[in-house]
Amino acid sequence: AKKAVLGPLVGAVDQGTSSTRFLVFNSKTAELLSHHQVEIKQEFPREGWVEQDPKEILQSVYECIEKTCEKLGQLNIDISNIKAIGVSNQRETTVVWDKLTGEPLYNAVVWLDLRTQSTVEKLSKRIPGNNNFVKSKTGLPLSTYFSAVKLRWLLDNVKKVQEAVEENRALFGTIDSWLIWSLTGGINGGVHCTDVTNASRTMLFNIHSLEWDKELCEFFGIPMEILPNVRSSSEIYGLMCLGDQSAALVGQMCFQDGQAKNTYGTGCFLLCNTGHKCVFSEHGLLTTVAYKLGRDKPVYYALEGSVAIAGAVIRWLRDNLGIIKSSEEIEKLAKEVGTSYGCYFVPAFSGLYAPYWEPSARGIICGLTQFTNKCHIAFAALEAVCFQTREILDAMNRDCGIPLSHLQVDGGMTSNKILMQLQADILYIPVVKPSMPETTALGAAMAAGAAEGVGVWSLEPEDLSAVTMERFEPQINAEESEIRYSTWKKAVMKSIGWVT
Ligand code: G3P
Repeated sequence: AKKAVLGPLVGAVDQGTSSTRFLVFNSKTAELLSHHQVEIKQEFPREGWVEQDPKEILQSVYECIEKTCEKLGQLNIDISNIKAIGVSNQRETTVVWDKLTGEPLYNAVVWLDLRTQSTVEKLSKRIPGNNNFVKSKTGLPLSTYFSAVKLRWLLDNVKKVQEAVEENRALFGTIDSWLIWSLTGGINGGVHCTDVTNASRTMLFNIHSLEWDKELCEFFGIPMEILPNVRSSSEIYGLMCLGDQSAALVGQMCFQDGQAKNTYGTGCFLLCNTGHKCVFSEHGLLTTVAYKLGRDKPVYYALEGSVAIAGAVIRWLRDNLGIIKSSEEIEKLAKEVGTSYGCYFVPAFSGLYAPYWEPSARGIICGLTQFTNKCHIAFAALEAVCFQTREILDAMNRDCGIPLSHLQVDGGMTSNKILMQLQADILYIPVVKPSMPETTALGAAMAAGAAEGVGVWSLEPEDLSAVTMERFEPQINAEESEIRYSTWKKAVMKSIGWVT
């Protein structure tokens, strides 16, 4: 059959913690034409450890690209119309590989991993000068979440990594670097780079000078020669890339100071654009690089509230408790009861991130009675995602001074209508979601399509004016919303200090 003629297309690899996707968009209309998704395994070799296989991740990217291209073929769309491919990725997850063999030297240490808790404790005792040494340069608290301590652990504990560093064969990267290096040739001249957004999550990057920071590298004992080159988020270096949460900010067109979005993936991440200003939080939020869309374009910053466990709690109910067979079933269970019946679930599997930064917290389910059943627990799991977002939103409103009037949301979980309604009820402001929830991939495609030398996408607000939005208004009264929220806070307090 004759192939349909279309405008320039742009692809996006969206490599998240739970799954990999490849999506192809029409650059003129932002319409999603085809996509494919593959779930990624997570290994838990010890309590608190979370690892993934970098080769499986790479393989999943190839598989998604191949399958999406097949689907485009079935739609009679010519894949030669794809003019650029962007990458968005789970951030912080740390890989070290051998540049001569292309082999990873250890599994990827995932952002959720807690093995570096004692390293963090030791390091925090010898922070030079004032306690602000790390935060003032990076915008981040010293935490197990970020790459520097994971890399330190690999250097201290994995012989193959130590040898490769000594023999000048080791390369470090977050998932974007690993993928881009592999996809641009690997051992045959792969490009070893990252972008400012991913670099800003390593705890080695100075978010003011936009360079690796020598003093931080010395503090963490990281050899600078294994670090990737830092580039902007939108330029041709083989491929373009953005950390996934920055990509979602771009995909939601949050280009103005004060605009914010919340993405529901494995974790949940609320980012508010603060323009060219680096705003430091007084309420437990991170300061991070939002994007820099071109070599000569200015950098934008964001305040970020990171919640470690969102979609991951649904996967846990599926894989560990077996109370659902597929993630979609959670909505059915929750709908059956329409309440948690006083049950509260704090899924602090990896401690608590913002606004608490409490590595000592562990998950709890409380308020159980003989009446409680799996439907109530399912409901409580969804509520937990919403309560955690409420905590972040409260912190954001306090830091910014101007409360958000509505919340723009995206990500896989937003197709769950109960979750969205609960979110509006618990925040007590409207929640607005685009009909196409793959905003992260869209943002990566936009950055790729807009790059100098590609130029098939213009980042003007009207570009997305055709996108339809769904709106969820609060349906309970404010008093009820507050009562539920204060009981949640009681539950959070019980989860803190569980491990010492
Ligand atoms: O910081 C971790 C974040 O980038 C992971 O995103 O999409 O896997 O929840 P996601």
